[in-house]
Amino acid sequence: MIQAAEIVKLGDLHFEPFLMSETIDEAVQKIAGQINRDYNGEEVLLIGVLNGAFVFMNELIKQLEVSLEIDFIKVSSYDGMNSSGELALALDFKNDIKGKNVILIEDIIDTGLTASRLLKMASCLRPRSLKIASLLLKPDSLKTQVQMDYVGIEIPDVFVVGYGLDYDQKGRELPMIYKLYQED
Ligand code: IMP
Repeated sequence: MIQAAEIVKLGDLHFEPFLMSETIDEAVQKIAGQINRDYNGEEVLLIGVLNGAFVFMNELIKQLEVSLEIDFIKVSSYDGMNSSGELALALDFKNDIKGKNVILIEDIIDTGLTASRLLKMASCLRPRSLKIASLLLKPDSLKTQVQMDYVGIEIPDVFVVGYGLDYDQKGRELPMIYKLYQED
């Protein structure tokens, strides 16, 4: 049974604990290990997709043992709990990704539309290699085929907040991941 104290209220909605810190840490370690192995001795440019990926990126870089450059792009395609379908780029890719090993860092892949569009845009700038790492993936929500190189945790089609993920800009600071609480 869920204790009321564990429920978090953000705006008009309630959220319940879903992925604990240990589970998230293990997923971050798994991805870091894979990147360390794949890019051993090479330089990598990590590009975090703001806003949601900032916590994941912050934890990931602490565990990476490759030579890093770090940059961000800023995207917004969500309005409350629904993807607007429109991809607004508030901060674009820079031309200096040409010839570099680029890894896009995402918080979550839901429909996959954001990731597939970003990968297409980045590949036009001719990086040496291009991969994507996402902390979370909702396989049942995918609406397009998308390249997935590093995935932390697969989750069902539930709306989640915390660890960088928001509901209407709220809840990003929560140290673990919560899912929408539905009383039955
Ligand atoms: P996609 O284009 O549908 O794959 O959506 C990608 C973006 O939507 C992510 O980077 C998140 O910012 C946002 N998003 C998708 N699912 C959730 C969720 O469950 N909670 C919060 N944000 C989400």
